[in-house]
Amino acid sequence: GILSEFYNKFIRIGKDGSVFSNLYLYYAEEIKNFEVYDDDVWVISYPKTGATWTQEMVWMIANNLDFEGSKIPLKERFPFLEMSVLMERMKMYENKNVSVQVCDASSIEFARQVPRPRFIKTHLPFSLLPQQIQNGTRTPKLVWVIRNPKDTCVSYYHHGTLLMTWRVCLENFAKVFMADKSHYGSYWGHFWSYWNRRHLPNLLVNKYEDMKADLPSTIKVVAKFLNKEISEEQVHLLCNHLSFQSMKKNPAVNFEDRIARIRSMNLIVKDKAFIRSGTVAKYKEELSPETIAKFDEWIKQNIAGTEVENEYIF
Ligand code: A3P
Repeated sequence: GILSEFYNKFIRIGKDGSVFSNLYLYYAEEIKNFEVYDDDVWVISYPKTGATWTQEMVWMIANNLDFEGSKIPLKERFPFLEMSVLMERMKMYENKNVSVQVCDASSIEFARQVPRPRFIKTHLPFSLLPQQIQNGTRTPKLVWVIRNPKDTCVSYYHHGTLLMTWRVCLENFAKVFMADKSHYGSYWGHFWSYWNRRHLPNLLVNKYEDMKADLPSTIKVVAKFLNKEISEEQVHLLCNHLSFQSMKKNPAVNFEDRIARIRSMNLIVKDKAFIRSGTVAKYKEELSPETIAKFDEWIKQNIAGTEVENEYIF
């Protein structure tokens, strides 16, 4: 069916083990040559590691807690650079006369023209970023989000079956994920591409698990990185705004509209939400003991003898 047509067109791109539909090739030059500004702020993440939460935090801090402005959908305030690359599935449904609103304009064009200072989201590994970032001729602020791979995988599975009409069970998806064959491909390829550059002065590592453990401290670190003053009172207000409960009911960030659209097309939508569980180590309740053991072995192999061997998130 539609899904196998789609997967057959997946290809591996670049040296960090990324996987995309071949539509990526259509946009590759545009992304490579994308003009970057020093006053941009980029949020970079492997899918499902907490980009949305981080984006909302970054945007609010950079915009002096503009609660009114934050009602504009996050996707407009904070464009997703390579969104167009992911739109092929939607275009295929459109061809099959399923009525669906498609973003016709290129997401790259949209990101190019938003007013500066721009806020840009991407899931690309370092080697696929615009050249000006790679060669250091432009030094925008880069906030890189990481999360433990087991929760990331489970979250990705729910995202796929909620928003991308995947028909796969979690145990099989975990195999796909560990084989670097999920959309965007290699978790570790993405990881090392930034970890090896974590000392760049314009790169901040933001751990999902740190945000969960101590949001006020994370907010202060990010404010410092963005050269912003923030009072204790503001930190308190922002913590409320960023809480799981308040993000869950915030239509500007919870992708309600997209879920409703998929529901209206009668494609599979589970009784779930984008802001789903928001916890650490929830994978223990969802993955089988065998899969957890495989995951632990996979993680061990990938971090053995490296500096992250003692990182608590793995
Ligand atoms: P779960 O599926 O584990 O719940 P991304 O934005 O990169 O797609 O990441 C989505 C994950 O971040 C989801 O994880 C989602 O619930 C979680 N998330 C979003 N907002 C959150 C918040 N305010 N607090 C905790 N987790 C949040």
